[in-house]
Amino acid sequence: MNILVIGTGYVGTTMALIFCEMGHKVTGLDVDQDKLTSLQSGRLYFYEPGLEELLKKHIQSSQLRFTHDYAQAMKENSILFICVGTPMGEDGRADLSYVKNTANEIGKYMKSYKVIVDKSTVPVGTTEKVTEWIQESQVVKIPFDVVSNPEFLREGTALHDALHPNRIVVGTSSEKALKIMNQLYKDFSCPILETSPKAAELIKYAANSFLALKISYINEIARYCDTLCINVHDISKGIGLDERIGPQFLKAGIGYGGSCFPKDVNALLYSANKNNINLDVLETSVRLNEAQPFYFLDKITSILGDVKNKKMAVLGISFKPETDDIRESPAIKIIDQLLKLEATVKVHDPVAHINRDKAQQYSTVEETIDDTDAVIICTDWAQYKNLNWREMNKIMRSPYIFDGRNMLHPEEMKQLGFIYYGVGCC
Ligand code: UGA
Repeated sequence: MNILVIGTGYVGTTMALIFCEMGHKVTGLDVDQDKLTSLQSGRLYFYEPGLEELLKKHIQSSQLRFTHDYAQAMKENSILFICVGTPMGEDGRADLSYVKNTANEIGKYMKSYKVIVDKSTVPVGTTEKVTEWIQESQVVKIPFDVVSNPEFLREGTALHDALHPNRIVVGTSSEKALKIMNQLYKDFSCPILETSPKAAELIKYAANSFLALKISYINEIARYCDTLCINVHDISKGIGLDERIGPQFLKAGIGYGGSCFPKDVNALLYSANKNNINLDVLETSVRLNEAQPFYFLDKITSILGDVKNKKMAVLGISFKPETDDIRESPAIKIIDQLLKLEATVKVHDPVAHINRDKAQQYSTVEETIDDTDAVIICTDWAQYKNLNWREMNKIMRSPYIFDGRNMLHPEEMKQLGFIYYGVGCC
């Protein structure tokens, strides 16, 4: 099949590459020339393990190419994937302007039947809107189908997730489009769930919101564990072994961040409100998540006292490991608050970069930790687990570790002479 992927971010680039792996010919389209130049030369402009190797492979074999030319790309491809961003608007709603522009361009250049597949995360009813936007801009009235096919891949493990999904959701009312989608996904062994477009759109928001909720729930339990001096890890394990609950997304910490959960939960709350529905549980979980970095900071200052002029080493900037994405990262909230409290902030991350003048970033953990009063772990990069902590203890001014991701073993750290605190493990 000839596939056009519009939008070359995490989702678009990953999907383009896995379709190449499946033997399809793929064109990646973007309006950002810098991104296209980078990708066409085989260089990934963001950090995502495993993608660059595949990018080079498929550029070399000419199975993949990049363009900004809608007219040509529309001529050559019959399945079009919309993978553009849907950022959060000021009032929490999903900003659909990129989706609208894309639909308008598709309409303008359509000369034959196309299946337009929406992979961008969009509110319920967007498939209908995309249909209208395409019709509005069509010069010639040609039939087409719009399908909702949400994506569930995670940053940091995008390739693995896209190649081995738990399920594929296809929302369409068109038999013809459904046949094409089933053909496209025929080599995947997971269930393919056929739904209405609206249900497919809501599944994506409901899935992300449920995962966000699970994190907020365990973080709330962690706060109670702090009071009772119980290790929340035992609770996560104890409840996670119940098959009805499951062990994933029960890691307590400084809260969730990233470009998806905060945006999608807010978009769902916004659209439910517009329909006169209050999603109370979700609303509370957002509040908890926003407060979680500050809860941890309060714990730190209650132990260290005033942090003014204290040297603090912050390990990890990205919102999770294996990505350089710092959008909505709880680490940034912690760094900003430390700076506000006039602490001296030294920062490290294996790939992400801090964009605060007053926080100095170092290239090694040793330099970052050297001569500091405390270490705060904000991102659970594996590298931090495998550090020679015995040696780290020797170069610190005082042996405080505040583990915002509960990634180190409290007892082991105590044996190494550290004064260790996690979230929900006192
Ligand atoms: C999330 C979903 O997991 C994907 O299924 C979805 O496709 C994606 O959003 C999206 O909508 O595009 P992602 O944001 O890449 O993926 O990362 P996650 O692994 O879900 O982590 C999100 C945040 O939750 C991170 O800050 C992470 O540190 C935090 N988290 C995760 C916890 O605090 N505790 C946990 O137990 C798990």
